[in-house]
Amino acid sequence: MADIAAQKARPQYRNIGVNQIVSYRLPPAGIVSILHRISGALLFLLGIPFSLYLLQESLTSEISFQSYRAIVGSIPGKLVLLVLIWAFVHHAVAGIRYLLLDRHVGIQKEASRTSALAVLGITVALTAVLALKLFGAF
Ligand code: HEM
Repeated sequence: MADIAAQKARPQYRNIGVNQIVSYRLPPAGIVSILHRISGALLFLLGIPFSLYLLQESLTSEISFQSYRAIVGSIPGKLVLLVLIWAFVHHAVAGIRYLLLDRHVGIQKEASRTSALAVLGITVALTAVLALKLFGAF
């Protein structure tokens, strides 16, 4: 009897509906996780083709080198690079956290929450410094 009462008192977590996504309060580790997937996809789908295209433009001829310089010097080009910089920084920092978690380092609830917040903070700080460099602040 006591077992049944305990089972009834336990909270139940079900899949949420599409209209509940916006109001769903994701914990920091959940935010890091979804951003890790998004950043991995961005690096693969946008980062590899864009880097190879820039490499080709920079090497093919003097004229293509000028086009490479125009692309990386333009605001849209820099914004694409900034997205890729954020994606790489987040993916690398979160990836190191996952490798540590895989080694059972910091798997306790509080430690995992702290490391997730650290990933988000380090990513924002590093991306901000690299953005300032990209836009010529120093
Ligand atoms: C310092 C560099 C990197 C580190 C430390 C890293 C680490 C990781 C780790 C640990 C995972 C597995 C995450 C899991 O267990 O779910 C992963 C997944 C993945 N990585 Fe990386 N990675 C790096 C660079 C890259 C780069 C350069 C790309 C693409 C060009 C990439 C694309 C992906 C993709 C697509 C996944 C699968 C994502 C998913 O299933 O959610 N990674 N990475």
